Amino acid sequence: MNIGLFGGSFDPVHNGHISMIKGALKSGIVDIVIVIPAVRNSFKRGHILSPAPYRYYMTAEVLEDEFKKNVFISDIEFFMEGISYTANTVAALSGKDKIASFLKGKGFSESKAGEPHRYYWICGTDILPSFDKWYKPDEIVKTAALLVARRPGDTTDITSEKKRLKAVLPNIKIKTFEIKGIEASSSDIRKRQDFDDVPKAALDFIREHDLYESRKVLDEVSEEAAESFMEYAIALYPYLREKRLLHTLNVGMLSAKLALIHGADADKALIAGELHDCAKEIDRDTQRRYAQEACGDLFEDEKLIHSPAGAVMAERFFGVDDKEILDAITYHTTGRGDMTLLDKIVYLADKIEPARTYTDLTPIREASVKDLNAALGMCVEAVTEKFKRQGRELPPYTSAFAESIKG
Ligand SMILES: [Fe+2]
Ligand SMILES: [Fe+2]
Repeated sequence: MNIGLFGGSFDPVHNGHISMIKGALKSGIVDIVIVIPAVRNSFKRGHILSPAPYRYYMTAEVLEDEFKKNVFISDIEFFMEGISYTANTVAALSGKDKIASFLKGKGFSESKAGEPHRYYWICGTDILPSFDKWYKPDEIVKTAALLVARRPGDTTDITSEKKRLKAVLPNIKIKTFEIKGIEASSSDIRKRQDFDDVPKAALDFIREHDLYESRKVLDEVSEEAAESFMEYAIALYPYLREKRLLHTLNVGMLSAKLALIHGADADKALIAGELHDCAKEIDRDTQRRYAQEACGDLFEDEKLIHSPAGAVMAERFFGVDDKEILDAITYHTTGRGDMTLLDKIVYLADKIEPARTYTDLTPIREASVKDLNAALGMCVEAVTEKFKRQGRELPPYTSAFAESIKG
């Protein structure tokens, strides 16, 4: 098959991206397009992108909405080390076994998936002047031709660019296709907060997670914490499914925001919030074993054991050794009698992060930025009610928490 590869940051995905994919398919040069959101870019302050899982899932939802067939998304970069360089991604994805198993997973027959493929890297004319400065461009062109989209009014002199590139990269092949679509830029969209060129599925996603508002906090925590947050977001991807992974990231950023408001350590809040549910989807036996290691028999309820188990996992897999962070993870479901400010913040953020819709959370959200204990009081009341309704006894830690909040 002729396979188009389309990489990008997709922060956010916009109509310009969609028109590139449509144009490439319409040109007949490629049979299918694989979209590959870049997982790691430069982490330099001011250039920080939204954490990778948001961009990946937002793009996935848009593609599902816009294309019924022939366009697929790849998460390959979540499993690669270091900065997401095109040369590495193209080499990894086009490996014979890799591409065959990817295509089989998308429903292609064994023979179709396993046949030799031709690859095209889909891009705009804007990359031509600098392509030879990319990371290992000779490696890229060994595997993939460039498939360059040309918009009406584009004045790039493609013939002379081709000639120039051919002189430095003898193996390069360049094909062009015409598109009608708009010229949009993700950074302009972010800067102006003008989402006219953003497809509805992406807009719904951005609103659900309050993405571009919430992520502002990443500019206020320390650079080190922001970097850890981005890395853990990638590392969590194999452990949590979409909904829970995005929930944990939302909790991380909201915890940091609340910490800044209430005078707690925002760096610790960011990480504790992000990792609070990290053990929730590992198998129950391992959860139970970890919980036992952390706290003996203190947590018996099956629904609660992921909290102490999460603290063990945060320490073991993510290298977190800060006791305050580990405690906030341990007590995020139950609370405890002598909760620290950090415990309280993570507990609350877990209940009210932007994607939470289980009830009208407006009063608690409003209280959370003014009076932390009042907001927690409302949460505890709701939890107590729920346990009563279900005929369950309140865990002792939660009773102690409820008492301390009242006092
Ligand atoms: Fe939890
Ligand atoms: Fe949670």
